[in-house]
Parts: sequence; structure tokens; C-alpha cells
Amino acid sequence: MYRIGIITVSDKGSRGERVDRSGPAIREMVKELGEVVSYKVLPDDLDVLKEELVNMSDKLKIDLILTTGGTGLSPRDNTPEATLAVIEREVPGLPEAMRRESLKKTKHAMLSRAVAGVRNRTLIINLPGSVKGVQECLEVILPALPHGLDILTGRGGECGS
Ligand code: MTE
Repeated sequence: MYRIGIITVSDKGSRGERVDRSGPAIREMVKELGEVVSYKVLPDDLDVLKEELVNMSDKLKIDLILTTGGTGLSPRDNTPEATLAVIEREVPGLPEAMRRESLKKTKHAMLSRAVAGVRNRTLIINLPGSVKGVQECLEVILPALPHGLDILTGRGGECGS
């Protein structure tokens, strides 16, 4: 079981003006992958997001951080920038797969600037903000995550087996 962190990125959510449904949707979908050890609803501030990503990775030793929201074109959408600022290596195949499959459902999928990457032994993946976006994207990448996390964390897993 992996240690999982969820960050909902929403100015309104962080002020208590909107109930977060996307974080709980992620929690429901990752039940079999691991335990959610940290869940935060944060504003779209670049520095706040960077700080929490680093905290979850370096201090809490979380294996997988899933963010939801802040990947679009609004001037306040900072999630990809925060992620790129803290990762050491990108994992482009994950957002590529999410966008490829999501485009079959909505043309708006091309508007998500979501990225994914690795900081030390932590995999960070951006998801769109809506519950529908979370569900449609997570179902695409979930089958590949156990193997990726096995390799990343050194818990075994042979490629090709
Ligand atoms: N991807 C999927 N699979 N399903 C969706 O409904 N919504 C899109 C896109 N990706 C969507 C999706 C929309 S409308 C936007 S604006 C972008 O994600 C960015 O969303 P965000 O700013 O909430 O992260």
C-alpha cells in the first residue's frame, strides 16, 4: 500500500466558499492503491503550492501526490508551474495518455496543462479540477501506477514481467 497525498487547488475551496468534491472523488478511486495520509485544499498561490508539494514529498515521504485543479488557462492557474518547479524529472507519458483518452470525451481536454513528474521518490500528477475530469483522467492512468510506483520506490517490480 502506498502513501498518497491529495491536494485540491481552488481559491474558493480554500476560503470555504465551495465544497470540494474532487478530492473525495480521488480518495474513492485510489482506495486499492494505498492510504491517503494527507489531504489539503489550497488556494492557487504558486508559493503555497510549491511549499506543500515539497512538504508532502520531503517531510511526509508520500509516494504519490495527486493534485486536482488549477491546470487551465486562468491567470490564477498555477498548478503545473508549481509542479515543474519542484520535480527533478518529468513523466510526460501520464498527461499525454490522459489528454489522448480525454479528447475522445471532450474537446476541452486539450485545455488542461497538467504535468507529471518525480521529486526524489515521490510521483506528482496533476489532474483537472472537475469531478468528471478527475474520474476520466484517473481511470486512464491508474492501471500503470502500481508498476511505476514499484519501480520508483524500489519496492521491486521487474519491467517486462
Ligand atoms: N479532462 C477530462 N477528461 N474531462 C473534463 O471534463 N475538463 C477540461 C480539461 N480536462 C475536462 C478535462 C476543462 S473544461 C479544462 S478548463 C481543463 O481541463 C483545466 O481544468 P482545471 O483548470 O480545472 O484544472
